[in-house]
Amino acid sequence: MAEITIKNMSVSYNKGKSFVLDKLNLDIRDGEFCVFLGPSGCGKSTAMYSIAGLLEPYEGEIYFGETKMTEMEKGKKKTFVPPQERNIAMVFQEYALYPNMTVRENMAFALKTKKVPKEEIDRLVMEQATKLELTDLLDRRIAQLSGGQRQRVALGRALVRSPQVFLLDEPLGNLDAKLRDQVRYELKKIQKELNVTTVYVTHDQTEAMTMADHIVLMNGGHIQQQGTPNDLYDHPANEFVAGFLGTPQINIFPCDVKQENGSLILDGGAFRIHAPEAVKASLTAYIGKKVDLGVRPSDFEIAREGVNAIPARVDSIEPLGDAYLIYVRVGDKVVVFKYTGETAPAEKELLLTPNMAKLHLFDPQTQMRIND
Ligand SMILES: Nc1ncnc2c1ncn2[C@@H]1O[C@H](COP(=O)(O)OP(=O)(O)OP(=O)(O)O)[C@@H](O)[C@H]1O
Ligand SMILES: [Mg+2]
Repeated sequence: MAEITIKNMSVSYNKGKSFVLDKLNLDIRDGEFCVFLGPSGCGKSTAMYSIAGLLEPYEGEIYFGETKMTEMEKGKKKTFVPPQERNIAMVFQEYALYPNMTVRENMAFALKTKKVPKEEIDRLVMEQATKLELTDLLDRRIAQLSGGQRQRVALGRALVRSPQVFLLDEPLGNLDAKLRDQVRYELKKIQKELNVTTVYVTHDQTEAMTMADHIVLMNGGHIQQQGTPNDLYDHPANEFVAGFLGTPQINIFPCDVKQENGSLILDGGAFRIHAPEAVKASLTAYIGKKVDLGVRPSDFEIAREGVNAIPARVDSIEPLGDAYLIYVRVGDKVVVFKYTGETAPAEKELLLTPNMAKLHLFDPQTQMRIND
């Protein structure tokens, strides 16, 4: 087991001419399930390869517990700790299984090379195969398996090794929706049982929200925000984070901040909202200026009367089974809200009120959050 500490790490693929990761600082606690989340190309895999030792950072340090991975003495030479000496297990999207070996042989391979006794290998393989529903497939060759089955073998092969760090790069990419939910659940359970520090890379915010103890949301080689899933969802630090987490995306309304008869108004053109007490202090610096008001689709209610209401014209309705996504027009803007009533509203014109305790306010220039 190990805590992972990353200090001022920069990574370059062209010897320092440009940086894919720029002065990254990160603490991953022992036993934590940490998810690197972000859009394609933001540097998630690069960060993970650096932890694995497959890439040497241009500058900065990586520690597993007290042990520095980015520097070690070898004879007179200084080098970095190679991947095979880091006691890690990795699963990549293009998992390299041995196609002509059976599932059992693939899962046992690393244990055999470590000279683990045969009975122990059998026990460990059976244990993980049971959790991943692979017992019926143990004697099949990899070449005879579907993509999703191969993915589960790759996970099983990594899990039998009881590594000190478990690194997973988009490991559920090839699974269909049902199996993905199931493996996601199993993986999280196994991770908690083994209590092994895990770094999990994904661009799927649902995976991140459901599995992570700690989300590190990245964009353009920088950490945008890190914390628990609820920290990021309830208090997004900027508009990028607000937009990245949550489906459908948060609605953003540009508003003028006005002071009228002692009250603060958010004027969105098509609507006017009285700023609630909790956000007044953060808004005073913006009187006479603009802010971006963010409201999540699940934070609207259909209202009967006009105070703090947003007049909306229904465009289309998508049934989700347990709720409806209702797309409406507010002025010339398309807004989506989630309606949990039994039947979809029949009216074409609605009044929507945002949940006043869940307003997100951002500075349009800096994109940074301005309320607590
Ligand atoms: N071997 C390489 N040489 C040069 N540039 C690279 C190399 N590998 C990655 N990059 C660049 O570094 C940036 C980060 O890549 P990385 O693979 O870390 O992204 P990612 O967040 O894992 O994306 P994805 O979700 O698409 O896997 C990208 O702009 C990518 O083009
Ligand atoms: Mg990647």
